[in-house]
Amino acid sequence: ENSSNSKIKQLYEQTAKLYHHILVNTKLGEEALEYLHQRGMTDEIINDFNLGFAPGVDILETFYKEQDIYDYQILRKSGIFIERQEGKLVERFNERVIYPIRDESGKTIAFSGRLLKNDPQAPKYLNSPETPIFNKRKVLFNLDRAKGQIRRNKEVFLFEGFMDVISASVAGVENGVASMGTSLTDEQVYSLSRISNRMVVCYDGDTPGQNATKRALEIVEPTGNFTIEVIDIPEKLDPDEYIRKYGAVSFKSVVDNQRLSPIEFYLKYFENGRNMDNESEQAEYIDDILNELAKVKDSVQRELFVNRISDRFNLDKRGLEQKLVTLTNKVT
Ligand code: UTP
Ligand code: MN
Ligand code: MN
Ligand code: MN
Ligand code: MN
Repeated sequence: ENSSNSKIKQLYEQTAKLYHHILVNTKLGEEALEYLHQRGMTDEIINDFNLGFAPGVDILETFYKEQDIYDYQILRKSGIFIERQEGKLVERFNERVIYPIRDESGKTIAFSGRLLKNDPQAPKYLNSPETPIFNKRKVLFNLDRAKGQIRRNKEVFLFEGFMDVISASVAGVENGVASMGTSLTDEQVYSLSRISNRMVVCYDGDTPGQNATKRALEIVEPTGNFTIEVIDIPEKLDPDEYIRKYGAVSFKSVVDNQRLSPIEFYLKYFENGRNMDNESEQAEYIDDILNELAKVKDSVQRELFVNRISDRFNLDKRGLEQKLVTLTNKVT
């Protein structure tokens, strides 16, 4: 690896240390620490995930000079700064809680910073840009810490956000990673396929989360590398909110006992926005389900769901089966 990249990594390591120190030991970090405590984060979790705080005052350049790691070109490339004009760098993260993002080997390669108070004018989370060491499409939050548990449990939990991963981990689900936002990539799926062949998609229960679940299924299923299950978090909560509201035991019970197969997920998903009393909307719904069912190879599963649709809508089984065969021929 070239020396410029290792210098950028060193910069992240030192900056993460400083941000963490500011959060836990200084007056500048008091409000942020209180914010995290309010969210149920203990000092132990804050240490384990090396959370930090970027204050609203510029401190980094002085700090790097003290540490003897100041190198303008490295600072420029790191993404920790924004270059306002030639020769003028300003710190990217201001008054944000810092979540260090690490690569698979545990090296910090990027930051995400969260506002203490939601503000419609600014993004809730601000991330490092793409840099020579940070390719967003390849990174999964927490993969370094979760890898061992993913192997032991023979499955990986996929979450949307940082706090979902952290809260789930405290609740005993330590084999979780986050796609950091809602668009899972082929590269992320590939890196998971090297350590597991079972995936539990545990995205937010709200509408964006459900849409993201559908997109994730569309990316993961065609690889043929995973058995996939979906958790539908009740009351449109996200996993972190669910844990805060109902506790770890209840969350564990949901993720252990309320797993949906992709088809079961679609049975619910395709009802969204449809008036199921209206016959033509029913017909569209059934088409959508059969389209998904056509991708299922297991003949018992197919028959089970054909039976369910036939019972529910009082339709002839043979007609449904025939349609399914036609659709299957199109898929394969
Ligand atoms: P959510 O909007 O579900 O946020 O986005 P969250 O994880 O529940 O955040 P909290 O609980 O309010 O703190 C899911 C994930 O999408 C990415 C982050 O990784 C976030 O955790 N995201 C979201 C961004 O990168 N930028 C944003 O502005 C918002
Ligand atoms: Mn407190
Ligand atoms: Mn969300
Ligand atoms: Mn969320
Ligand atoms: Mn949340």
